[in-house]
Amino acid sequence: MIPTRARLACALLFGAAAVALMAGAPNGDQELRVCADPFDLPFSNDQEQGFENKIAHVVAQDLNARVVNYWWPSRRGVLRNSILGGFCDVMIQAPVGLDPVATTKPYYRSTYYFVFRADRGLRLRSLDDTILKHLKIGVNIIGYDYTNTPPAHALGSRGIVGLVGFGNFLNPDPKADHPDDIIRAVAKDSIDVAIVWGPLAGYWVKRSPTALAMVALPDSDPVSGMPFAFSMAMAVRHRDKELRARLDSVIDRRRSEITAILQEYSVPLLDLGAPATPGAPHGTPSGSVAPTRDTVRDSLLVSDSIYQGWKWFHVYCFRCHGEDAQHPVIATAPDLRWVLSKSGMAYPRDSFEYTVLTGRPDKGMPSWKVLLDTAAVKELYQYVKARSDGWLKPGRPHRESDLKKSQ
Ligand code: HEC
Repeated sequence: MIPTRARLACALLFGAAAVALMAGAPNGDQELRVCADPFDLPFSNDQEQGFENKIAHVVAQDLNARVVNYWWPSRRGVLRNSILGGFCDVMIQAPVGLDPVATTKPYYRSTYYFVFRADRGLRLRSLDDTILKHLKIGVNIIGYDYTNTPPAHALGSRGIVGLVGFGNFLNPDPKADHPDDIIRAVAKDSIDVAIVWGPLAGYWVKRSPTALAMVALPDSDPVSGMPFAFSMAMAVRHRDKELRARLDSVIDRRRSEITAILQEYSVPLLDLGAPATPGAPHGTPSGSVAPTRDTVRDSLLVSDSIYQGWKWFHVYCFRCHGEDAQHPVIATAPDLRWVLSKSGMAYPRDSFEYTVLTGRPDKGMPSWKVLLDTAAVKELYQYVKARSDGWLKPGRPHRESDLKKSQ
């Protein structure tokens, strides 16, 4: 048995150590334990050549600490095996709102880009350009649950499937990964166009021996409601509030240095003043792997048109197809989430619109021509697609514009 007084002394000692670490005692031998991917340029690598590595050193210097990297590749389970497991304390890069962790204020914002060979003379301006239907399109497949990036979702909602997938999550051996594979495939003409997260695109396009063009996607997709632009921040565990506050103030103090690093890596930067993307990308701590929308602070937050679609659905459709477009009430009515999914029929938007407007009266599906116009059916499609893609969880959605009003 340890005497009570000794125990108390121990407790005080440990307590003091913890406080010293958190308060940043200026002794220079504190550790900033950073979670980083060992093979993922331009984000990070084990030679500390990525921009996350550089930013980590700026942060550490400001906190009078030294960087201790904990290397773990951006694979399935990465959060559990790094920050959440307590192996490291800070992710230098995470989309604002990434739910399993707490994020700081953002320090940059970027979006997705079309990347194609300059000599192809493609006049790509948006995902609605019909030429996309005839092109071989590459996208990064990402997320620790193998989910798709927002552009893949957005193309899917236009009936464009059969994309060529690239990315860290496809190869079990991290060393066999080349984060620039997707850009090299464009240069080699094995795909016609790639849709790539800005930091990855900017860095590798600059270094490509073949001249490549980049065209930005808008902040969000008008058809699927999916965001393309994301504000990126640092992340800590939810309970580490004090550390988060310190990082917030480092970001304020060191903003110009951090921006200079991003520019040095050719990261295409958007104005941070833009409205925060509802539903941040989950993605991975270290990057290339950006944005999907599965892990969000508010998984019911939707665009106004999806919200409108939900309203139509709950006036006209739910009594057969079921609340939240799941668990159909009528035995012959299909689960529309499945109908729109890849494993179902991947019903294209046009067919959806046609079926809803004309109906199949002989099979029990009414025609909605009289009650709904094409615009309303488009909203219905977006809503059901959001349920089908899975990022809109069951329950009554929240409207973006209401949220802004109440802020
Ligand atoms: C009275 C019940 C009923 C209502 C109300 C209803 N549906 Fe249906 N719906 C059905 C049935 C039954 C089918 C299956 C028809 C068949 O077997 O071909 C169906 C089929 C569909 C299909 C085609 C699925 C496929 O696999 O081909 C779509 C799309 C659809 N409904 C959308 C809607 C939408 C959107 C609404 C609301 C505007 C709606 N439905 C309202 C009963 C209903």
